[in-house]
Amino acid sequence: MSKLYRFGVSLDKNLINKFDKHIQLGNYKNRSEAIRDLIREELVRKQWTTGGDVAGAITMVYDHHKRELVNVLIDTQHEFGKLIISTQHIHLDHHNCLEIIAVKGKSQDVQKLASKLKAQKGVKHTSLSMSTTGKMLQ
Ligand code: NI
Repeated sequence: MSKLYRFGVSLDKNLINKFDKHIQLGNYKNRSEAIRDLIREELVRKQWTTGGDVAGAITMVYDHHKRELVNVLIDTQHEFGKLIISTQHIHLDHHNCLEIIAVKGKSQDVQKLASKLKAQKGVKHTSLSMSTTGKMLQ
């Protein structure tokens, strides 16, 4: 771990009251922990919007009875093969499949893959959860 650095922050009373409430609801032990999280969140968000490296998961639910859909989804995943770390397939019921695709790469490429999967007919829902590779927060 790198050296700890202390600094003072001046805040308006209303703002610190709201922040303390946020800390309480978030189960933080102290203000420092909450501020560290805010800084990390902002840095990670910046990485997403400036085309940095991200890691995350695409979750999608689709009807595997739809003609050609499974082939299209597999073709798309091969096309973006360099981004995909692993895929987990769960047969939810007779019709529905859940797929969780772990991804790592440039944020715009990951978003492009998620959009392409989402746009296919028969895909009922897709969500992209973007996180960080963790490297820039070391
Ligand atoms: Ni299935």
